[in-house]
Amino acid sequence: MKKYRGAFIKNEREISCMREANRVVANILDALGDAVAPGIPTRDFEDLARELCKEYKVQPGFLGYCGYPFVLCCSVNEQVVHGFPSERLLREGDIVSFDMGVIYDGFYGDAARTYPVGEVSDKAAAIMRVTEASLYAGIERARRGFDVYEIGAAVQACVEAAGFSVVRRFVGHGIGRAMHEKPEVPNFRPKMGGMPLQAGMVVAIEPMVTEGTYEVDILEDNWTAVTRDRKLAAHFEHSVLITAKEPEILSVSDRGLTRFFC
Ligand code: MF3
Ligand code: CO
Repeated sequence: MKKYRGAFIKNEREISCMREANRVVANILDALGDAVAPGIPTRDFEDLARELCKEYKVQPGFLGYCGYPFVLCCSVNEQVVHGFPSERLLREGDIVSFDMGVIYDGFYGDAARTYPVGEVSDKAAAIMRVTEASLYAGIERARRGFDVYEIGAAVQACVEAAGFSVVRRFVGHGIGRAMHEKPEVPNFRPKMGGMPLQAGMVVAIEPMVTEGTYEVDILEDNWTAVTRDRKLAAHFEHSVLITAKEPEILSVSDRGLTRFFC
C-alpha cells in the first residue's frame, strides 16, 4: 500500500472493501435507528448489532479494541462517546448516539449517528441538527490538496456559530486496515497545519458536540465519556474517501445517504 506522510493511500481493490465495510455499518445503524423507542434497554441494541454482524458475515470492529467490551458504543444524553450498552431503559426525550465499527476482508468501516427517543426538547433537536450539519461542513473540505485541519476548522465554525462546543479530547482519524490511521482529524483548528489530503485517503470525520462545556470526564468504567457539566452531547460520523473530485461518503446504507436533521 502506498504511503504519504504516514497516511495510507488506498487502491481500487482496497477502496471496494472499505465501501462494503462502511455500507454494512450504515445498514446496521439504520436497523438500530428503527429500533429506537422509549422503554428499550440499550443492551438490546448491542444484541441487534452483534446479530447483524453475523448476518453480514463481518467482524465487529470495536469488540476487544483496547479492551472495549462491546460491539457497539451507545451513549445517552450527557454521554459523549464510548457509552456501554446496559440495562438502562431509553426514555421519551432522551437522545442516543450509536457508534458502530466492523471489519470486512481486513478493512474497517466506522460511522455514528444520534437519534431522538420520541419527542425531544428544542435543545436536544438543535444539538443533533447542528452536529449533523457540522459533519457535512467538514466533509465539504475533505478534498485533495486541502489541509486536513481545514475539516475541523469548518466543523468548529459551524458548531460555535450555533452556540455549541466541540470536544477536544477525541478526534476523527484516518481509517483502513487499522481503525485509527494517520492523519488525526480534529473537530477544531489546531495551532499548526496538518498534512495536505491526497486522493485515496479515507478519513473518519466525527464531530462530538456539546451543549455547554467541551470538557469531558471519563466514568469509573474507564470508557464512558460524559460532559463535565452533564449537559447534552451528540455525535455524527462518516468515513469519507478523498478523490480527485467530490468527497465520497463511504458509510452509505442501502437506503441511500440519509440526512436526518439538516
Ligand atoms: N468511532 C470511534 C473511534 O473511531 C469508536 C471507537 S470505540 C472503541 O474511535 F471502543 F473501539 F474504541
Ligand atoms: Co471513528
